[in-house]
Amino acid sequence: MNWGQIDRYAKSLIKEAGHKIRISFAKHIEIDSKADVNDLVTNIDREVEQFFISRIKSDFPDHKILGEEGFGDDIQSLEGVIWMLDPIDGTMNFVHQKRNFAISLGIYTDGIGMLGYIYDVMRDDLYSAAKGEGAYLNDERLPQLEITPLEQAIIGISASWVAPNRHVENEKIIELVQRCRGTRSYGSAAIELAYVSAGRIDAYISMRLSPWDIAGGMVIAQEVGAVTTNMAGQAPHLLGQEPFIVARPGLHHDILTNYIQLKV
Ligand code: IPD
Ligand code: CA
Ligand code: CA
Repeated sequence: MNWGQIDRYAKSLIKEAGHKIRISFAKHIEIDSKADVNDLVTNIDREVEQFFISRIKSDFPDHKILGEEGFGDDIQSLEGVIWMLDPIDGTMNFVHQKRNFAISLGIYTDGIGMLGYIYDVMRDDLYSAAKGEGAYLNDERLPQLEITPLEQAIIGISASWVAPNRHVENEKIIELVQRCRGTRSYGSAAIELAYVSAGRIDAYISMRLSPWDIAGGMVIAQEVGAVTTNMAGQAPHLLGQEPFIVARPGLHHDILTNYIQLKV
């Protein structure tokens, strides 16, 4: 497999898709909801996914695609080369804010992340990584992450997990929020993974993420030494929804062992 060639191809596809998204603001955007009224999807999410799929299928016919909007393949195993795509991560931001959303793409072979991309479309910031070759923000290499204690850490977390909820003991999360330096919530898992990788926040936790939310970001985060696991401390399985944490090395252990108590 010529990963260098695939990397160049993926970057140019992402930039082209980003351009399509930016010009879509001049057109009418149809907004629908999926699982619940606040789970938004638009015609642009669907069009961008279809754009990726038609290109990838014609140029790499033996590769498979897992796309959030369901136009890709029915993926039951991680065998072979799989492109894991979220055409717009942060659709609520796309609809309401016209910023703070990203294209998220991870390219995996037999379950191993080889290439990862998060494209912050409105800032024209492309975070990327190739396994073993470091992570980049545009052309600039991202430095390795150093250890930061919780007291000096900014944690990316949605208020949904601080309020009583079905997934995690929120009293422990309240303690976490009280002990850390501060919290942020950007409304796009991919952007939060990019921000951990760039050292702008120190951890990000969520109780329900899908493979396309994290596939690209995990490759990038791992290249700068961040730890990415589910809440059992294992590698995310990438075949369904799971709780997820990415953090600087020591902080990952501290948060997971002292503050996360999943409900069964
Ligand atoms: C969502 C965003 C959000 C996260 C949700 C995701 P979408 O993705 O990443 O930040 O909290 O769990 O589903 O629906 O905008 O692609
Ligand atoms: Ca998403
Ligand atoms: Ca999406």
